[in-house]
Amino acid sequence: MERIIGVPRAGRTPSQVIIGNGAASRLRELLPAARTIVITDPNVERHWHALTEGFERIVIGTGESSKTLATVEEVYRRLIALDADRTCCIVGVGGGIVTDVAGFVASTFMRGVRFGFVATTLLAQVDASVGGKNGVNVDGFKNMAGVFNQPDFVLCDSSMLATLPGRELRAGLSEAIKSGIIADAELFERIEAQRPEELFSDLGALAGIVASAVGVKSRIVEADEREAGERRLLNLGHTFAHAVEKCTGRFLHGEAVAIGMDIISRIAVATGDMSRGSCERIRSLLLRVGLPVESGVEMSRLLRAVRQDKKRSSESIYVTLPCEVGRCRIAKMPLTELERLALAVEPDSAER
Ligand SMILES: NC(=O)c1ccc[n+]([C@@H]2O[C@H](COP(=O)([O-])OP(=O)(O)OC[C@H]3O[C@@H](n4cnc5c(N)ncnc54)[C@H](O)[C@@H]3O)[C@@H](O)[C@H]2O)c1
Ligand SMILES: [Zn+2]
Repeated sequence: MERIIGVPRAGRTPSQVIIGNGAASRLRELLPAARTIVITDPNVERHWHALTEGFERIVIGTGESSKTLATVEEVYRRLIALDADRTCCIVGVGGGIVTDVAGFVASTFMRGVRFGFVATTLLAQVDASVGGKNGVNVDGFKNMAGVFNQPDFVLCDSSMLATLPGRELRAGLSEAIKSGIIADAELFERIEAQRPEELFSDLGALAGIVASAVGVKSRIVEADEREAGERRLLNLGHTFAHAVEKCTGRFLHGEAVAIGMDIISRIAVATGDMSRGSCERIRSLLLRVGLPVESGVEMSRLLRAVRQDKKRSSESIYVTLPCEVGRCRIAKMPLTELERLALAVEPDSAER
């Protein structure tokens, strides 16, 4: 069964997120008659070469260290060498690194060409490929340069997740748990109800989780495509996740998000927004899935990185505080207040 979720785009037809099987044939149906150039990475190329057979391909490196302006410039050079022009369509085939880079390249090459994605990681299917934030890191600071621009289509084929390492599946589930905490308690319960190993081998259940998470994201992006307000909800856990990513090279993005969600949950207990029971429930699910909840980095160091994060506006910062599973609120907080709270809930100083 195929599900199509349309994500509204200002002044244009909706971006189509297609959740189903048979990505190879579906991709060919979706492509305009124009020339298609695929951007992918070596792992996806190795496992899923057949999917992009016959298309011209540009292969970029893997990991956060490849999500840079240097990679973008290299891709521009390759496009020029291929004689690409504005009529081309770019398709990013890969995880969030590929889709973030491909979306940025497509939005800026010759002032913008059409583009779509085949999302090949769980994290890209539930989050990264959807919603139109495309960008790259600068000096280790996450997503410092980027654009809002949604793809024409996103293909999410859960059978492509069969080749994904377990650690990557767990990291992807972290962002789906995030969607549940933000706005879909039933999604959170569904993840709670199944043993992680069973879930990861049940492609139908995974597709259902992708559909629910994309549903949450689509409703929020519809209300606030360019993050003037409500879209900040999607940053749950990310203020500290980005700090963890800046301070260590050890964690995958989804793992850093799990650590960030645990920190912000404890802060939400301290502010009186959330009960201790809900905080424990979130932590238990993260642990059960096999996600980390501690970074090993001192809070004072994380807070220095938070100060430099792009979400800081003057001396205040927007943080998404969980109130209960399925409901969060956005708070504008003086940085000094966030620092005070974070230091107070640091595991060493807390009661736990
Ligand atoms: N733009 C957004 O809205 C948004 C949202 C969330 C996350 N992100 C970004 O997404 C990035 C993380 O994305 P990710 O977790 O997908 O990481 P990733 O792109 O690095 O992919 C993870 C690993 O899996 C490999 N891989 C991909 N598909 C595979 C498959 N089907 N089989 C086997 N191996 C496969 C990749 O080569 C890579 O080694 C981060 O940079 C994060 O900031 C962006
Ligand atoms: Zn994220």
